[in-house]
This record gives sequence, C-alpha cells and structure tokens, in this order.
Amino acid sequence: MSKEAFPTETPAVVTCGLPYANGKLHIGHMRTYLTGDALARAFRLIGQDVAFVCGSDMHGTPVTVNAHREGIEPEEFALRWHERYKELFPRLRIDFDNYGHTHDETNQALTRSIVKALDDGGHVYEKEIEVAWDPVLEMPLPDRYVEGTCPYCGARARGDECDEGCGRHLEPGEIVDPISVETGEPAEYRPRDHKFFRLSDFQSYLAEFIDRLEGTANARNQPREWIEGELRDWCITRDIDWGIPYPDEDAEDLVLYVWVDAPIEYIASTRQYSERVGSDSFDWERTWKDDGEIIHIIGRDIIQHHTIFWPAMLRGSNYHEPRAVLASGFINLDGKSFSTSRDRAVWVDEYLDAGFDPDYLRYYLLSYGQFQQDIDFTWSRFAQVVNSDLVNHLGNFVYRSMLFAERNFETPPGGEVSESVESQIQSAVDGVNEALNAYTPRRLAQIPVELARFGNEYIQQHEPWHLIDDDPASAEQVIVDCLQLVKAIAVTGQPVLPGIGAQIWTQLGEEASYDAIHVEEALRPRTPTLGEPTEPVEKIEDETVERLETELNARIIEHTEAEDMSQDTTDSGDRVNIQRFRDLDMRVGEILEVEGIDGADELVKLKVDIGDETRQIVAGIRQFYDLDDLPGQRVVVVANLEKAEIFGVESDGMVLAAGDDADLLTTVGDAPLGSKVL
Ligand code: MF3
Ligand code: ZN
Repeated sequence: MSKEAFPTETPAVVTCGLPYANGKLHIGHMRTYLTGDALARAFRLIGQDVAFVCGSDMHGTPVTVNAHREGIEPEEFALRWHERYKELFPRLRIDFDNYGHTHDETNQALTRSIVKALDDGGHVYEKEIEVAWDPVLEMPLPDRYVEGTCPYCGARARGDECDEGCGRHLEPGEIVDPISVETGEPAEYRPRDHKFFRLSDFQSYLAEFIDRLEGTANARNQPREWIEGELRDWCITRDIDWGIPYPDEDAEDLVLYVWVDAPIEYIASTRQYSERVGSDSFDWERTWKDDGEIIHIIGRDIIQHHTIFWPAMLRGSNYHEPRAVLASGFINLDGKSFSTSRDRAVWVDEYLDAGFDPDYLRYYLLSYGQFQQDIDFTWSRFAQVVNSDLVNHLGNFVYRSMLFAERNFETPPGGEVSESVESQIQSAVDGVNEALNAYTPRRLAQIPVELARFGNEYIQQHEPWHLIDDDPASAEQVIVDCLQLVKAIAVTGQPVLPGIGAQIWTQLGEEASYDAIHVEEALRPRTPTLGEPTEPVEKIEDETVERLETELNARIIEHTEAEDMSQDTTDSGDRVNIQRFRDLDMRVGEILEVEGIDGADELVKLKVDIGDETRQIVAGIRQFYDLDDLPGQRVVVVANLEKAEIFGVESDGMVLAAGDDADLLTTVGDAPLGSKVL
C-alpha cells in the first residue's frame, strides 16, 4: 500500500500553514516555516522536483478584530502585514518559491471555482441557524468576536475554536455563554441563513484517507475519533464584510468563512509559481489535480482543518489529495505557550536584531526535540546548543581541517578517500533520503553535525600534526579525508544550515552552484583548491545570553504581574503596554439626566448617552457641580468596567474626571457620541 519513495517521478509541493496577516511574528510561528524550508531544500538535494509555497491569510475575524483596534480598514491592515512578512521570511533564509496572499485575484478566482464545484456537486445546502449578535453594537458576532465556554470540554474558547482546551473547531452558535469581545456584554442569538458544506458526504472517504495519510502520527490520530464519530456539516459562510463573497448572486451578502479560502491559497500560490517559471518547469495543475505529492506542514492546532475539511473540499471539487501532513508541537516559554497579546514571546525581529545568524535558529528549532513535541525556548539552552553542536563540533572541525590543509600544503592534496570515511559519508547521504521518507526533519539537522563529530574524532585519532614530518603521505590521507568530510558537511548541511553551508562551500573553492547541487555530490572528488579559511560559526557569549534572558524574564514577569493585579499597576508607577491600555473601552458620551442619591452627599446618578445606548452611572461629583448645569455636557465614559452597586444604585460605567475637584473630562471638537477614545 505504501507510496513510491522520494524522490518520485511526480512533482511535489511543500506548503506551510498561512500566517494571519494581523501582527508581529514570533519564533514559535517559525517552527513550521523553517521546517518546510529545510524539507523543500532537502527534497531538491535528493533530486525531487518540488515547489515550496505559502502566502498570507488575509481574511477572517483574526484580521478584522485587530484592524478595527487600530482603526484601519482590514484590507489596508492585512496588506501592510503581508508586505512585512514577505520581507521577513528571507531574512531567516526561508525562501518560498512563491509567497502570495489569499486576497489576490488568483486565490479569489480559484476559491470561487472550487466553491462552485462543491455547490454544483450537491455538497452545499442552505440552512437557517442561530448566530451570535451584539445587542449593544447591533452587529453580528462571528468567530473571534465572541468568547465563551467550549461545549465539548468546558474550557474558555473563542467563537470558532477551543484554542485553550480540546482544540476543536466550533460551529457558529455552539459556544456556551457567549460574550461579545467588543462590549464585554452577553451576546444574543438571531436566526440567519447560511451555507453548509455536507461533510457527512465524505465520511467513508475520509476514514480511508486518514489511514493512508503520511506524515506525523498526531495528524492521523487526532482526527480519527472525529471522523469515526458523527461528522457534522460545516458552516462555510459568515456575516462579515471582509472576505471573498459567496459565488452565487443570491447569497452575495455572505462571505466565505476564512478557512474555506485560506487553504486554497496553497493551490493558488503554486499556480502563481507555475505561471512564473512556466508549466514545463513546474506544472501546478498536474500537481494538484493529478499525481503530485502534496505535503502540508502545520501547527498541531490546525490538524482538523487539514485532515477533515480540506481533504473533503479537495475531493468534492476533484482535486488531488494530500500525501502527508506534518503537525508540529508548540514552542513554549516556561511550559506556557507564547502569547502575542501578553507579549510573552520571543519576536523574530528581536532575534534578528540580536545579530544572530538565522542558521542558529534553524538548527536549534529543528534539532531540539521531535517535530511533534512541544518544546521550551530559553536563550541559555539555545546558546548551549549552538555553542556545542555548531561551534565546537561543526565549526571547529571545518576550520581546523581547512587551516591545517592551507598551512601545510601548497595545493590541498587530492586522491582517494579512506573507506571508513567514505562509508560514513555514504550513510549521511542515505540519511537525507531516509529523513525525508520518514518525515523526520530533526534528522536533517543532526546529519551534518554527526559528520563533524565523526571528523573531530577522526582527526584526533590520527593526529596529522604529528604525522606531517615523519609520515607526510599518511598526513596527506588524513587531510584528504577531512576535506571530503568538510565537503559532505556543506552538502548535507544545506537544508538546515544554508548560510553556513554556502560559506564553507565557497571556502572549499567548489565551483558548482551551491543551490543546485545533488546530495551525491558529497561523495564526489573535491575541486583541488581552497580559499582562505575563516571560522564558519561564531560563539554566543555568556553576556549576550544573560542580557537576553534578563530582558525576556523581566518582560514576562511584568506582564504576568500586570495580569494578576490589574488594579495595582496604575498606582505602582509601572508603565502599561498599549494593549492593556486598549483593553479599556472608553467612549464619548453626553449626560442626559442627573439625580442625587438619598443618603449619599457626594454621589449623583447620571444617565449618559454613549451612542448606541444609555448608561446609568454613579459618579462622585455632587459637591462640585450645580446639577442643573450637567445635562448636555459631554463626558468620557469607561464603558467596559464591571458593573457595581453603589449605595444600592447600579452603576454601569464610569465618567472620567481630573483632580481633587473632579473636573469632568470633555471633548474639544464634536466627536459623535459613542466614539472610541484612543
Ligand atoms: N492562518 C491560519 C492560522 O494561523 C492558518 C491557515 S492555514 C490554511 O491558524 F490551510 F488555511 F492555509
Ligand atoms: Zn474544548
């Protein structure tokens, strides 16, 4: 049953889960991209025809929520991040053959055609369902606009995913006790017609598909119970005005759920690549409709989308199915996941600003732990791995071998490589093949370092510096062997260490283009030249590690404390980050009515119009104002405070006032009532 081993006659495509174009990327995000890049390079190295594609995920509430917070249109917001990502990836030597985005015309057209095919095939139907609605803002609350409780595991969840609990996708209307993230108020439900994809049509197909799916075991095991249980149909439209409209005139007010058009970008991006290089070079249609080897690299949180929804969509529209899904574990800090909003993360920019070679991160993330395991990131562990594996083993061996050759020989010696060394290199070459066929990216990282370890022992054992005077022929042999090992390190190191490898390649004086070599090149005779050797890897100093660790810890502590004692932070003189500031929902209001409160000399009960609603707010301003002067005054209201009871009167918000005299804050211009104060 097993499929043809790589390299196959057929083209392959390696994809990585699309990043939402909605904010900074941290190194946790990079695990899948670095792995995808290493696999794509390794495929090329063994002669497998491959395209490595990705793109930005532009639609959906992960984008609109953040765009709204910044007060800009989702399109402009997402495009801005898209451009940034496009520049960022190559800085880590992540070289996609094509990096598109889901809002581009290629993807929009392909999405329309695939959805139409599903609809024409009878796999889509319309149904009235209850969707969450914000009674205050009078808007629908799809996906990330609501939070509540997961009906399956009871964890706190987002509208469309149980991101902190069981990991399930949640359908509209499923979340329990939904709260609007915009107002903090309970959501209501309203009936609405939506389109559904009949997943149940694909139950038996998926049950077989999952058994033949290759890749990491978690990608098969997690969805199995869902496939074998009841496969509920999937709502594929949303009430939101950012996305790709449903391709049917009667339903154009609905846009497609972001998870419909996002994976289609895998195809669209391949198509753009094909169109650029010509279909003789790479044929996207053959790959996606006929016999390509489709390999998805994703985070473990989106397994269900890639092993249930996506293959069913492909099947229903007559596309070819994925061959493998590799689902990575997360990168944690202190056992807790990275959090963008809480600034609990190591940012990619921060890594690059520290001046580290991207190959260090590539090596560290690929070599440390199995791909599907969660791993912890610490700067000290990072430095330890780099200093030991890359500096002490790899760099040291390469440098001492070349230096010895350069110092002792006019032209570096050539000739047959010893048998033991040759067989060591042969197994490294085979290892690249095996790593790909077993989907064990970690192995790719280990191979060049193992060769260097072997080389260091070899050179230590043979001591060419002792042989050089008495037995120059033997010394020469040792150097021939070592230089061949150096070449093999450059060749097999290419997937994970493309920068360091290229530098070694140049120093070896090899003429073939480094990017186009075949792994067998590791065994072929060297070019009999040698450049000026330099140390290929630089040690990470203790002081650097200490500085980075201190910075990171301080940040984590600050943010954890800020969370724990959210009331104390303003008093303590600490600064808050912009996110915490934005958590306050402040709005422009107008006082409509004022009344005293019996028994409370300082308090008044206000009715304040904040645009969409009128709030009753208790304020301690009575002794400072003539109450008759207050109606008609504009004020600033904190609208998302917890409700409180003051002197038996409910207070739903707070009006801002300055100083001992409770000088009420107002507006200079005439911002409409309800405007957000930012
Ligand atoms: N943007 C999604 C996320 O970050 C991933 C989309 S992957 C694709 O979770 F399959 F839809 F392309
Ligand atoms: Zn859950």
